[in-house]
Amino acid sequence: MTKLLNQWRQGFTRREALSGLVSFLAASPLLHAQRDPWPLDQHRRHLGFNEMLTAFDFEPVFKANVPLSIYDYTAHGTDSEFTLMRNRDAFDWVELVGQGGVSVEDVDTSTEIFGLPMKSPIMLAPTSRQRDLHPDGELGMYRAATTTDTTMIVSNASSFPFTRIADAAEGPLWYQLYARQDIEANRQPLADGQAVGAQTVVVTIDQQGSYYERDLHDFHLGGAVRSPRRRRETSNPYGVGEGRLWYEWKLFDDLRSMIDVPILAKGILTGEGAKKCLEHGVEGIVVSNHGARAIDYGPSTLEVLEEVVDAVNGRVPVLIDSGFRRGSDVLKALALGADAVCLGRASRWGLGAFGEQGAQKVIEIINAELVHAMAAAGCRDIKSINSSIVRTNFP
Ligand SMILES: Cc1cc2nc3c(=O)[nH]c(=O)nc-3n(C[C@H](O)[C@H](O)[C@H](O)COP(=O)(O)O)c2cc1C
Repeated sequence: MTKLLNQWRQGFTRREALSGLVSFLAASPLLHAQRDPWPLDQHRRHLGFNEMLTAFDFEPVFKANVPLSIYDYTAHGTDSEFTLMRNRDAFDWVELVGQGGVSVEDVDTSTEIFGLPMKSPIMLAPTSRQRDLHPDGELGMYRAATTTDTTMIVSNASSFPFTRIADAAEGPLWYQLYARQDIEANRQPLADGQAVGAQTVVVTIDQQGSYYERDLHDFHLGGAVRSPRRRRETSNPYGVGEGRLWYEWKLFDDLRSMIDVPILAKGILTGEGAKKCLEHGVEGIVVSNHGARAIDYGPSTLEVLEEVVDAVNGRVPVLIDSGFRRGSDVLKALALGADAVCLGRASRWGLGAFGEQGAQKVIEIINAELVHAMAAAGCRDIKSINSSIVRTNFP
């Protein structure tokens, strides 16, 4: 009996047979493709949705989700990326010196621009091709904006038509225009945008074709996001588009008859430029260097904000973007005279990392940070924010 029992114990069980088969298959070259090519020590865990604490946390998750050329298209600045760095450095040159004395619960971020009520002075900047980041693209971004009561400026180079985006949710939408040289060709798109509720038209005038070196390298390495055919059509060796080199101030006079809502100029960096805009009937200024994608070695937008605000002298609203990632960044710009701040890359990181929910969370985080910063600086509401809470040390 004992002998029988021992034989049974040492015998080839079904479990052992199965485990032998699995080991054999795993070692088989037929299944080689399913092997993890990376040794375990090369794995890095990316943070999960619930671990996102600042806008910066979303960028590496976005980067991990998409091909390098898609990431680079969002990340790059023009040329050496000096201005890209300067856009962020500028926040280090502005100190917040508020007094406190306001409870977070009492902070009110609501404001109004062109008589349009806003829950917060934080808006979404127009950025192109959002379907590259997530299949929902601008539709997801707009739903995130609507959920958070945030005004979204829709790019003229969106992955979906403006009318389709406008259908996706119910929040406030502004329309961004890259004007076409044939002025009449702008009439129909502008009419369509206004017909479905565009509250303003933002005419971007700063981007006249730029050298995105990272993009160019991706292109030459075969991973470009833009088609080689389009690039070959240009006369310069870099394949950079030349479609907007014709812009002149009179563009605003020409467009006026097609626009019944307030018209803003985006890409202003000098007091002189702002004055020119006002002479040509512009009703709002966006201080922007296109997130350092227009011209390199220009100043950060924060550095020139006061000059523009002084030139405008309260006649029209002044918005700003380029480099904004934190609530305290927003507070600094409001203290230097901006009426609102637009988020570009930060919102794209959110969408690219976790889709609509990611974009929503980025907006919520930066808004919550703004509330805390306002309380710490002793500002109960937007009207009470002024230059007394900042000290600037621009070089
Ligand atoms: C990937 C990308 C695409 C952009 N596309 C547009 C566009 O279509 N129209 C436009 O006016 N600005 C565009 N911008 C500029 C943004 O509106 C905004 O000025 C800039 O992103 C602000 O800088 P930030 O990204 O550092 O926040 C784009 C910016 C990025 C990063």
